[in-house]
Amino acid sequence: MQSPGKKNLLEDVKSRLDIVSVIGDYVSLKKAGSNYSGLCPFHNEKTPSFMVNPEKQVFHCFGCGVGGDMAAFVMKYESMEFPEALKFLAVKAGLDPEEYSSGFDKRQADEKKDLKEIMAEACRFYSSALQKSQPALQYIKNRGISPESAKEFMLGYAPPEWGALAAHLARKGFSPEKIIRAGVSKKGQNGLFDMLRNRIVFPITDSYGAPVALGGRVMDASLPKYLNTPETALFKKGQTLYGMSLAKDAVRAEGNAILSEGNLDVIMCHQNGFKNVIAPMGTALTAAHMKFLKRYTSKIFLVFDGDNAGINAARRSLGIALEQEFEIKVALLPSGEDPDSLLRKSGASAFRLALDNALSPVEFVLKTFKGTRTEVLREAVHMVGLAADPIMKEELVRELADKGRTSEDAIRRELARVGQKRSYGGRPTGPDVSKTAEQKPAGPAGIRYKEEKLLLSIFYNQPDKRGAILKDMSSEELEDPVARGLFSKMARAEAFTAEEQAVLSALAVAPGFEPDDALAAASDCIKKLRVRAINKKMAEARGDAALLKKLIMQKKALTGGRTINGE
Ligand code: UTP
Ligand code: MN
Repeated sequence: MQSPGKKNLLEDVKSRLDIVSVIGDYVSLKKAGSNYSGLCPFHNEKTPSFMVNPEKQVFHCFGCGVGGDMAAFVMKYESMEFPEALKFLAVKAGLDPEEYSSGFDKRQADEKKDLKEIMAEACRFYSSALQKSQPALQYIKNRGISPESAKEFMLGYAPPEWGALAAHLARKGFSPEKIIRAGVSKKGQNGLFDMLRNRIVFPITDSYGAPVALGGRVMDASLPKYLNTPETALFKKGQTLYGMSLAKDAVRAEGNAILSEGNLDVIMCHQNGFKNVIAPMGTALTAAHMKFLKRYTSKIFLVFDGDNAGINAARRSLGIALEQEFEIKVALLPSGEDPDSLLRKSGASAFRLALDNALSPVEFVLKTFKGTRTEVLREAVHMVGLAADPIMKEELVRELADKGRTSEDAIRRELARVGQKRSYGGRPTGPDVSKTAEQKPAGPAGIRYKEEKLLLSIFYNQPDKRGAILKDMSSEELEDPVARGLFSKMARAEAFTAEEQAVLSALAVAPGFEPDDALAAASDCIKKLRVRAINKKMAEARGDAALLKKLIMQKKALTGGRTINGE
């Protein structure tokens, strides 16, 4: 639910921004009649089915069915929740979202701001500690990390004392409660003690480069090798990708992202010119990671050690990525290597080669799955079944038929037999943190009757005709529930759901009537839907002669030709 405060902000944002220029920042748009058109950023296409309507300030894609206002676009493109998207737009519009926010929102925003300040200060503290520690500098050097890379990734060093950072933060005026909530220190017997001690510090940032958590690596063989600060209001482990802020421009430029496994892999790849590399934070890949990455690309390379453990991990990630409609290639490195070790041993050309030789999902199964021919094929079909995108699934079916030397028909039958897609390997894919954040758009609910759709379109696109239409009919006469709901909401000027917005945006970019004919067309629609209603009643009337007679009279009166204006 939107608070009244937020509603005003949205209105003010919309009065200052034009949807054509907002979307124009992401999509190249061309004027096409009363709309602008371009290639849809939400699905792959070669001819534009993505439309933006300046008059109604909505967009709609006829290819994938998404649509709505500028906030809906930003939410989808930037994978933001509504409040975040609204703030994003407010800043664009030169408005101060704080002025509109309720006390609660403001407290939340203030809290995050404080935590960010603590994290930034912690990074400064650790990076200056690094410059003072010979062993830490030596470790970084031994790992082949250049001083430039260390700086770019804001590497630091946590000294061995128990509470060096906590004491520093307290001196800077941060309260113990806030320091604890930032996750960098914990309450102990004698005051606060730091989470990371005697470790190399890897700041974990949000996609804008602001530190939100810290990873720490030991400098010897002790365990645990890596320790991360816990999840906080700023940091959600299952959806954070290490290196994203530094990689995102390259990801967009290259059109794909390379997913590695570790912090050091990301840093060494960058250092060797592979700047579109990122890694999950020590967890297996989640659907939330992939949804986040969709902001930037839907093409990925998964890079794994070619040993058995690596192959199994690749299989799992492959399943998750297919479910999230990514176009995927799997690069298997020589057994025992990760990108970091390979780059150091054999250089950028070896890593490039591994990427060039990357396998398609089908090739990956055919090549790595151990079993009889039938088992391998069944495994491959199972994986193909995970592809959520029907077009991609079709391509995988064809590829499997070809490379697995079997028939498409057999694959399709097996696909139907195994039925609904299950998680890869039959195991649960772990909690999907973003489930509530963004439900898959169910495409605009279609409106079943042509005349109801057209009537709705007129009602929506020609606000000045609403009075005349409402004088003649009420929303209850509409049979389609979506049309009926939208009609009555518009009549009462109520807010729409995201799905309803998508239905309306489709009508805005393709109204389906000529403005000059609007009233006549509306009359015609009303007549048609009434005739349909009468026909339905007649079918139900059966033997009731009196009723039948009455209905026939009604129908005659209708088809006798009456228009809204009574002409
Ligand atoms: P790996 O154990 O594969 O190590 O962890 P690595 O990245 O090759 O480490 P280096 O090269 O020896 O430094 C992969 C990633 O998993 C997370 C870290 O983010 C690490 O980079 N991890 C690993 C943890 O969070 N905790 C651990 O104990 C180990
Ligand atoms: Mn490594």
